[in-house]
Amino acid sequence: MDRLNEIKKPLEREFSEYTEFIKRVLHSDDPFVSGIMDYIISSHGKGIRPLLVFLCAGIHSKAGIGKRSYLAAMLVEMIHNASLIHDDVVDGSDTRHGKPTVHSKWNSRVSVLSGDYILARSYVIGMRSAQYDIVSYITAGIAELVEGELIQSELNEKRVVTRQSYLDIIFKKTATLIGVSSGSGAMSAGANPTEVGLARQIGLNLGMAFQIKDDILDYAPSEQTGKSSCADLREGKVTLPLIAILERCGKTECQTIMDKVKAAGSNPELIEEISAFVHKEGGIEAAKAVMNLYLDAARSVIRTYPESTYRHSLELLCDYIGDREK
Ligand code: IPE
Ligand code: IPE
Ligand code: MG
Ligand code: MG
Repeated sequence: MDRLNEIKKPLEREFSEYTEFIKRVLHSDDPFVSGIMDYIISSHGKGIRPLLVFLCAGIHSKAGIGKRSYLAAMLVEMIHNASLIHDDVVDGSDTRHGKPTVHSKWNSRVSVLSGDYILARSYVIGMRSAQYDIVSYITAGIAELVEGELIQSELNEKRVVTRQSYLDIIFKKTATLIGVSSGSGAMSAGANPTEVGLARQIGLNLGMAFQIKDDILDYAPSEQTGKSSCADLREGKVTLPLIAILERCGKTECQTIMDKVKAAGSNPELIEEISAFVHKEGGIEAAKAVMNLYLDAARSVIRTYPESTYRHSLELLCDYIGDREK
């Protein structure tokens, strides 16, 4: 996390206030519910989305980072957290942030309901704030995210694996919320619609790069990432590193590979074999090249801003997303 802390440096005060805010949002008088929420808060992730909110707010703000930006940061991260708690049930993932997921520590009922609880609590705070422009801008991202997860589940089932369907899915399930983060950051600081649209472009491109990197990291060992290794393959999810190889193969070869993917769920040796194949055939490198195109697109928008510590942190964030090891 060291590099990320460096990037968050100009926002130390904001992040500490933000953390207190999250605790208030997720507060419950019930000891059982509060135990679950404490667990979720203590096993937090990287905080990329609130970071983008604050950086884009900082770039557009004339009077420092204010209440509307905290609201936006809270909303995007709570939507993200709830979606991950649900996603780990959908994906059957047991580990996140190096710790048991909510459904493996408790059960899937607790996960589904905790995700709902987090969403419900954050909407209440959002509505009470009466900052309807921000609340509606951000919550519109939820439907896209869920649509992405639904389409992914349907196409996985049918084994439809094309580069275009992959890119469409990750745009919806990941890039939208990250785009909403940078866009709402600008909006929270009073940016005009054109400026909000431009800020959103940064997040959308970073979001595409971010998910491609996440899919690359799925091929890395669990001790490195704090998430299960090859979880995607185990659920039959074909992502860019493998798609890039399939595109180069003939029909029969594709069929052989896809048959292996189909059988891999219950067979650790096959998982190992496919993973080694993806590494050997250059699938990781091919996916990295696509990721870098999105990072460059984000950088070229960032360079249109005047120089500042916030702009510098945005540039470092691009590098971090490309280089991150977990
Ligand atoms: C994980 O997102 C889900 C994806 C969109 C790839 P993050 O990697 O941002 O999750 P945390 O919050 O840091 O755990
Ligand atoms: C991203 O998908 C999750 C959401 C957008 C909800 P993944 O399934 O790839 O994310 P991880 O790998 O579980 O973090
Ligand atoms: Mg998933
Ligand atoms: Mg998942």
